[in-house]
Amino acid sequence: MSDTDNHADWWRDAVVYQIYPRSFADSNGDGIGDLRGIISRVPYLAELGVDAVWLSPFYPSPLVDGGYDVADYRDVDPRIGSLDDFDGLVAALHHAGIRLYVDIVPNHCSDQHPWFQAALTAPPGAPERDRFIFHDGLGDDHSLPPSDWRANFGGPAWTPVGDGTFYFHLYAAEQPDWNWDNREVRDDFLTTLRFWSDRGVDGFRVDVAMALSKDLTDPLPFAEVEQIPIGPEHPFYDRDGIDEIYAEWREVFDTYDPPRVAVAELWAEPSPRKARYATKRSLGQAFFFDLLQAEFAAVTFKRSVDNVLSWVKQSGSSCTWVLSNHDNVRHASRYGLPEVADDGDVWATSDRDRRWRLTRGTDPVEDIERGLRRARAATMFMLALPGSAYLYQGEELGLRDVADLPDDVLQDPIFFRDPTFNRGRDGCRVPLPWTLEGPSFGFGSGSAHLPQPSWFGAHAVSVEEGDPTSTLNLYRQALRLRHDFRREGLGEELRWADALDGALHLVRPSVGWHSVTNFTADPIAWPGLPTTMLASSEPWEPGTPLPAETTVWFNEKGTVDDPV
Ligand code: NOJ
Ligand code: CA
Repeated sequence: MSDTDNHADWWRDAVVYQIYPRSFADSNGDGIGDLRGIISRVPYLAELGVDAVWLSPFYPSPLVDGGYDVADYRDVDPRIGSLDDFDGLVAALHHAGIRLYVDIVPNHCSDQHPWFQAALTAPPGAPERDRFIFHDGLGDDHSLPPSDWRANFGGPAWTPVGDGTFYFHLYAAEQPDWNWDNREVRDDFLTTLRFWSDRGVDGFRVDVAMALSKDLTDPLPFAEVEQIPIGPEHPFYDRDGIDEIYAEWREVFDTYDPPRVAVAELWAEPSPRKARYATKRSLGQAFFFDLLQAEFAAVTFKRSVDNVLSWVKQSGSSCTWVLSNHDNVRHASRYGLPEVADDGDVWATSDRDRRWRLTRGTDPVEDIERGLRRARAATMFMLALPGSAYLYQGEELGLRDVADLPDDVLQDPIFFRDPTFNRGRDGCRVPLPWTLEGPSFGFGSGSAHLPQPSWFGAHAVSVEEGDPTSTLNLYRQALRLRHDFRREGLGEELRWADALDGALHLVRPSVGWHSVTNFTADPIAWPGLPTTMLASSEPWEPGTPLPAETTVWFNEKGTVDDPV
C-alpha cells in the first residue's frame, strides 16, 4: 500500500469490489471458487482499479444460506482454502494496494456451530442455551410455538427442539439467532473481530446489522408486531440496545492503526434513526440501498441521491452507493425489465423482480440491449457521486442474471422455503466467465457449481479485454479517471447543475468534473454542454445530441491527463 493511501479515512471514497468466493475463480477444478483462485486474480482486480475487496463469507459452513450460516467464525471452509491461503490473500491484495473487508454475520450462526450443538444437548435453562433465544412452547403440552412469527425466508420463525422449547431464527431454521444479551456471545464476537484484524483485515461488512438487540420474552402476535415501527419499541429491529454493542466493537477497531472500519448492512428505510449506525461511535458507515431500489429515471435517481446525502450529513459518514449485490437481480437485468405491467399498473420493483425470477425470465421479458445500455449509464452516474461505491463481481462484465437455471441446481433457501413464491437469488451468483474456452469459461478446470449459460462466453474477461467498447474497458476507464480526480483533491461536495427534462447534470466542483445522464429513451439535443469529454457510456460525438440512456463525463478544466 502506498504511503499516501495509508490514512484513516481511506474508506470514505473507496471503490469496493464484492467477491462471492464460491463463484469467483476455482483454482483446483472442484467447481467451487476458492481463496487461491482469488489470489490468482489479484492482478485483474488491480488493473480494474478497485480500492478494496469485500469477501462474502468463506467460513466453514453447511451452506444452507450460501455461507451466511457460519459454523466457525475463525477459520476458512476447507472447500475454499485454509488460514494460510487467507494470509496469502491478504498479502497479495495489500501488495497490490487493495484493502480487504470480510463479512461478519452476528445475528445468527449455523445450527452446526459447536455452541448451538451444545445448547441442543443441554437441558432447558442451562447456560449453554442462554447464548441463543429459547422460549417455552405454548399450550398444555408446550407443543405450540411461542408466537406466529414468520421468518424472513418464509416459514415459522420458531423451531421446536423436542423438549417443549423452541428457538428463534429470523432466517432459516438452520440459522439460530444469537442472544446478544449474553456476555459470552459479545466477548466471542470481539475475539473474532480481533482475530481477523490481527491477520490484516482492514474492515468488516456487518450482516443484518440492525437486528442484534432483541426482546422476545413476551412475543405479541405477528400482525401486531408489523404495526410497530422499527426502533426502540420493536421486538427485534433497530432497538436502542444495539448502540452499546457497536460501541464495544468500535473500541476494538480503534486499537488498530489505521483503525479498522465497518459498514452496516441496513434495510432500515423507514427508520429516522439509521444514521446512528454510521457515526464514529458506531460502525462508521452504513449501506444505503436507495439507488439499488430506484427505477432508471432522472426523478427517482435524484431523489435517491438527495436522500442518501441527507442521511450522511446526519452521521458525518460518507455515502455508500450500490447497484448490484449477491441478494438482488443484477442491474443489467433489472433495467431491462418494464416499469409498467401488462395490466397498466406500475410494478413495485421487488414484486417485478421476484416474478421475473419465478417465471424464469418469461414474464415480464427482459430487453437485453436496453438493460445493458442503462446499466452502463447508471454505473457511470454512480461512480461520479461523492462517497464510496460498492461493485459486485461480474457487473464490470455487464453480466445479467441467469433467470432460467434448472430447479435441480438451485441452492438458495428462499427457493426451498416456497418454490411457488420465489426462486431465490442463485441467478446473480453464477460463477464468472474468464475465458471463451474451457469447461466453465475459465472459472476452473472442471464444471462450475452453478451452470453457466452459453451466452456467458461473450462476457468472458478475455473477450472483453480485447474489445475497446466492452463494459470491462468502460469500468477500467471510469475507475482510472475517478482515481485521477481523487489525486487532484476531489472532496465530497456535489452540485446539481440545471438539466433538461429527463436528464441529470452533476458537478464535483473542486475538480470541475461533470457527469451528465440522459435517462430518456430518446436522444437529447443539449447546447452548451462542456466539450471536453472524458468518457461516455455509449459512443458519442461532442456537439451532437446526447444519445438515449447514456452518461457522459466532462472536465471543465480540460482532460485530467492534459490540464489546460
Ligand atoms: C443478508 C445477506 O446479504 C444475505 O445473503 C443473507 O441471506 C442474509 N443477510 C442472512 O444472513
Ligand atoms: Ca476450488
